[in-house]
Amino acid sequence: MVEQHRPPTLDTSTERSIEPRLTSRSIRSFVVRNGRLTRAQQQAVEAHLPEYGIPYSETPLNLSALFNRDAPVWMEIGFGNGDALLAMAKQNPDVNLIGVEIHTPGIGQALMGIEAAQLSNVRLIQHDAMDVLQNMIAPASLAKVLLFFPDPWRKKRHHKRRIVQQEFLNTVASRLLNEGVLHCATDWADYAQWMKHEFSINPAFINTAGTGNEAVRPDWRPLTRFEQRGHRLGHEVCDLIFKLREAGS
Ligand SMILES: C[S@@+](CC[C@H](N)C(=O)[O-])C[C@H]1O[C@@H](n2cnc3c(N)ncnc32)[C@H](O)[C@@H]1O
Repeated sequence: MVEQHRPPTLDTSTERSIEPRLTSRSIRSFVVRNGRLTRAQQQAVEAHLPEYGIPYSETPLNLSALFNRDAPVWMEIGFGNGDALLAMAKQNPDVNLIGVEIHTPGIGQALMGIEAAQLSNVRLIQHDAMDVLQNMIAPASLAKVLLFFPDPWRKKRHHKRRIVQQEFLNTVASRLLNEGVLHCATDWADYAQWMKHEFSINPAFINTAGTGNEAVRPDWRPLTRFEQRGHRLGHEVCDLIFKLREAGS
């Protein structure tokens, strides 16, 4: 079993037994999957998580100390295998990136890529992004938050699990710097409508594409595994890029 090989540094709460270690939030945007780690992913976790991982804690991070430099910080939530996270880190050496993901195989896969490319501007946190934002990120700290292809929770009775809700938007807004950006992308039409509605009733954000409009897919946004899957299924992809509204505007 995967657990037998885990190093003590790994957050073992992320499979099977995550609920007891998490805070009182009762509805989560993920389910804990017992996905198997490949040997390479497992080795990457054992060898590189101590270097690139940040253990979950309830104390706000000192971001400059964490990266040993002052630079804009972007956070990608639910980075999956790290396709976009790694590409953004390579494209933006002057940016510090924090990737947050629950799923251990994705953590392992991303670590393999980080190590192979010797990326010094990426750190990973294996925990629920809502807890991370609320407890580990000080107010007005992040330049961008990226949410690419979040779990769509298709069934109506599961919509409450969708991460884009007012609590999420308010939390992200409080952690963004002035002019900070929240960029969401989805290939699930119903979730795109849902996101548009949630943004439209939230006073903290302004649509960079104009009220009610979708953004043009930016060329720089890396193609992820889930976006490719959406293309194969013939889904249209929707980008929503919202900026923090200036106080008084
Ligand atoms: C549909 S996948 C998309 C992965 C990747 N962004 C892509 O485009 O290929 C959504 C990912 O979000 C992660 N996730 C969902 N809710 C999360 C949360 N609250 N905190 C951290 N990760 C989360 C899941 O584990 C999953 O890997």
